[in-house]
Amino acid sequence: MNNMVIAIDGPAGAGKSTIAKIVSNKLDINYIDTGAMYRAITYKAIRDGIDINDEEALIEMAKKTQIDFKDNNIYLDNEIVNEEIRTLSVSGNVSKVAQIKEIREIMVELQRKMGKRYSVIMDGRDIGSYVFKDANLKFYLTAGINERARRRYVELKAKGHKINLDDIVNDIKNRDDIDSKRSFAPLIKADDAVEIDTTSKNIEEVVSDIMEYIK
Ligand code: CDP
Ligand code: CDP
Repeated sequence: MNNMVIAIDGPAGAGKSTIAKIVSNKLDINYIDTGAMYRAITYKAIRDGIDINDEEALIEMAKKTQIDFKDNNIYLDNEIVNEEIRTLSVSGNVSKVAQIKEIREIMVELQRKMGKRYSVIMDGRDIGSYVFKDANLKFYLTAGINERARRRYVELKAKGHKINLDDIVNDIKNRDDIDSKRSFAPLIKADDAVEIDTTSKNIEEVVSDIMEYIK
């Protein structure tokens, strides 16, 4: 029997990872956060002093990098980096790294392998439009920029990050812009994706909408 693939795409703060995690538990399938993969590569570049504008160096590094998911942890070269990849410094550089075609191809190959090995719910920017065009179900989550920034602000603040709301708004606007304008596999709603505006919906409401489609 073929594995089930559910794609969840959309801009930052739309609620993709929160909702995907809950749905993965309900269905007892794996959750893959593809944004964490691009974040891990970006974190490694910053940590190792690689110039974010040096595409060749970034590609060479990515080729030699191992990324894995186990028990809801992300491993970068066998080290858990769940927290390190969520800083504003990684957020501020990740879209630049993620627009490099060769780096995307390495990540996409890994993502497709995961979808072949087991059933997955995968969230990102290009899952329904590029990585798994034939996914069983595709969702595109959106929300207004102020609400998305507010959610991310509350989340990072609770984790003890020193941040202000304006910086988050600017980071998200900047990433939305680069992610949707890049030439290779940009952020776009797939024609056959179900679009859900989550601006005034709480997590339970969005989960319940999605579970209705899955049933
Ligand atoms: O969690 P948040 O929505 O802030 O972002 P993320 O899902 O962790 O993704 C971080 C960045 O990775 C995005 O802004 C994109 O630049 C890139 N990304 C991508 O290009 N393609 C994906 N499938 C997932 C993320
Ligand atoms: O993955 P993505 O960037 O799309 O968003 P997320 O990380 O799942 O959600 C960002 C924050 O918004 C989390 O702290 C969620 O708990 C919160 N959230 C919310 O308050 N209401 C929703 N309908 C969805 C998410």
